[in-house]
Amino acid sequence: MCWQPAHLQSLPARSALRAQVLGTKAGSGAGLAKVSAGPTGGGVPSSGARGRFSLTCPPGLLFQIIRKALSEEKQVSTKTSAADLVTETDQLVEDLIISEMQKRFPSHRFIAEEAAAAGAKCVLTPSPTWIIDPIDGTCNFVHRFPTVAVSIGFAVNQELEFGVIYHCTEERLYTGRRGRGAFCNGQRLQVSGETDLSKALVLTEIGPKRDPATLKLFLSNMERLLHAKAHGVRVIGSSTLALCLLASGAADAYYQFGLHCWDLAAATVIIREAGGIVMDTSGGPLDLMSCRVVAAGTREMATLIAQALQTINYGRDDEK
Ligand code: IPD
Repeated sequence: MCWQPAHLQSLPARSALRAQVLGTKAGSGAGLAKVSAGPTGGGVPSSGARGRFSLTCPPGLLFQIIRKALSEEKQVSTKTSAADLVTETDQLVEDLIISEMQKRFPSHRFIAEEAAAAGAKCVLTPSPTWIIDPIDGTCNFVHRFPTVAVSIGFAVNQELEFGVIYHCTEERLYTGRRGRGAFCNGQRLQVSGETDLSKALVLTEIGPKRDPATLKLFLSNMERLLHAKAHGVRVIGSSTLALCLLASGAADAYYQFGLHCWDLAAATVIIREAGGIVMDTSGGPLDLMSCRVVAAGTREMATLIAQALQTINYGRDDEK
């Protein structure tokens, strides 16, 4: 990999890189018509057969780009901290998703990780809005640790309507649509029914801040759950895929301070449709912009986790 501090470098010109990857003239967009999350019109896009959301051409060009780049040399820059990474592939994939969606839905709005890092405001209005994390698990991606996903959520009237998360290396497509269930490669997802913290497997992520006070709180939260005799606390390096594991019933709870709306949007629909709870760490309703979350298979478990946690302040996505 090739490390460069963000302020000293400009990542490769995106249209040139995009043309190189697609084998097209810069800016032509050819080839992307193959990649689709299924929507067809304004407002709430329609889903595929039997209420399921599908990709018309799995695994899709985007996923091929990510899988190919996973094993290659990368240009790596840092964002808010030395542990908050971005590569040219994050930016390329985000550009491709947005330009494709803009062609299909010219009136829709976008909230996307790399646009936000470049200064775009993250404000969720009532307008139809796509909420995009082009590569979740960028640190994994940089290190070739094969736990990397694309996450796309969609909201209308500030309500999350559907979410699509693709585990790029295991080729697992997680989908959820409000009122229509959650699926992984067509298999219905169901959360665990565990209510007892002393029998729980809990997932979390570290978040980007690494100052001593933040790390102390992070470790102390983990310690509190272990003192409460949770079976284990796991960190896999991708918030969205950890949340998908929760939706699959492979873990009983998830909590994090320092994640963003693009880490949470798609996964929230998937967990809720799998029968789970997604709430604020205060125990109140989820606030997508608050950079914190507790999720669990049951309300009892979510409440126990929320009660055990000390708050780590990451501010709000819509105030950055
Ligand atoms: C990050 C990862 C990481 C989590 C961060 C996320 P990114 O997303 O999910 O595991 O700790 O809070 O922002 O930067 O890889 O898209």
